[in-house]
Amino acid sequence: MNQNISLLGLQWGDEGKGKVVDNLANDLDAAVRYQGGHNAGHTLIVDGKKIVFHLLPSAICHENIKCYIGRGVVVSLEALFSEIKEAKEVLGNIEDRLTISPACSLIQPYHIKLDQLRELSNNLTKIGTTGRGIGTSYEDKVGRRSIRITDLYNETKLKDKLEQSLEFYNSIFQHSFASPKIEVNELFDINLQQAEELKPYVGNVIEEIRNLQQTGKKILYEGAQGALLDVSLGTYPFVTSSNLIGGIPAGTGISPSDIDYTIGITKAYTTRVGEGPFPTELFDETGQYLAEKGGEVGATTGRPRRCGWLDGFLLSNMVKVSGVDGLCLTKIDVLDGLEKVKISTDYISHATPSTLIETMDIEEVKPNYLELDGWSEPTSGKTNYEDLNENAKLFVDKIEEIAGVPVIMISTGPKREDTIIREKI
Ligand code: GDP
Ligand code: IMO
Ligand code: MG
Repeated sequence: MNQNISLLGLQWGDEGKGKVVDNLANDLDAAVRYQGGHNAGHTLIVDGKKIVFHLLPSAICHENIKCYIGRGVVVSLEALFSEIKEAKEVLGNIEDRLTISPACSLIQPYHIKLDQLRELSNNLTKIGTTGRGIGTSYEDKVGRRSIRITDLYNETKLKDKLEQSLEFYNSIFQHSFASPKIEVNELFDINLQQAEELKPYVGNVIEEIRNLQQTGKKILYEGAQGALLDVSLGTYPFVTSSNLIGGIPAGTGISPSDIDYTIGITKAYTTRVGEGPFPTELFDETGQYLAEKGGEVGATTGRPRRCGWLDGFLLSNMVKVSGVDGLCLTKIDVLDGLEKVKISTDYISHATPSTLIETMDIEEVKPNYLELDGWSEPTSGKTNYEDLNENAKLFVDKIEEIAGVPVIMISTGPKREDTIIREKI
């Protein structure tokens, strides 16, 4: 039985993870976020209403599911409380269904400020971050100087750590950016107030997960972002600052061998927000068509998403490095009505393929396209594979062939029920 299931995006994020989690949720007992922070934006359409989750696991939408935020997540308490407030309006009280690890590193206001100042600076590589202080908080984590949730409950330690941090950050703000400093006493008071509000949610995440594992419960490890944004496996430096599949054990405390099944999510085309290489990007009317029909606007920052054809080379690589067992293909309905659809199978390049992503030579490549006939009969809202047009089925077959794993789910629209299940996990 697949008891520990990992779900992750295989592109540059926004593959439709929120919708897929919502669809799978009926069969789950628990869900865990293990990396990233409120840079994520996961959209669900519930009873015709749009809900976007940033820091909370998307499965919180289902009242029988216990949700966890593991130690690998960087937590902005301001963002957390605002999201809990919004969630409560729709879902009622979630206090007894949400547990957060005390080992999570915090995102403090100085992380957000530095992230934004750096992005505005002309002297540094612009990544196009979400400006949420994700990278700067992870810098403190690997630099072994994070303020963690547990530190909020030791006033002396908290004050010392805030003073040390602000000495460092204020010096950067003043000398490198001519920007005002942050007052330690004010921030200390805010932290203490937040500590009180947070108390009911702090608990022993790994112990609770182990108990669930021992009692045969089904647990979903919800990846945020996408494998191509993984700091180590993605298109560095145009990545986020966490690890996707490899982040599960580190970000929760479970054993790497616990994961029974990994479902990888890919759109039927590709999108990207922010800077960085994108070999199959389209700058023509087809790109605009995908953007408009797909509603490709960032769920967190509202930035337009860059659009292009599906990149089979990157997909098959990300399937391999993530150990994907089955694929979920989303947004196939966006391609409805196109006369021709394309998939890039490989690149015209002198570099050896295996080094392309690692070394970023991907910037220089030109894609080799496979052109397929499109389909005029809509896939939109279909729930049965047999009802798809033959050309749409051929498109799915090609993706399976390129990725080397089966397409077990197809998403045909934004709603929970717009889903074809070909194989139950
Ligand atoms: P996530 O970050 O991976 O959860 O994805 P986002 O929520 O950022 O972006 C996906 C967008 O596509 C959202 O607006 C979803 O409502 C929408 N969506 C998800 N699946 C489908 C689908 O199969 N078809 C269409 N048309 N929209 C979808
Ligand atoms: P979900 O979970 C799409 C991108 C940013 C930027 C880069 C680094 O909704 O798929 P960061 O703020 O993380 O330091 O920004 O990563 N990025 C995302 N792109 N979807 C996301 O999340 C993203 N989270 C970060 O646009 O290019
Ligand atoms: Mg998103």
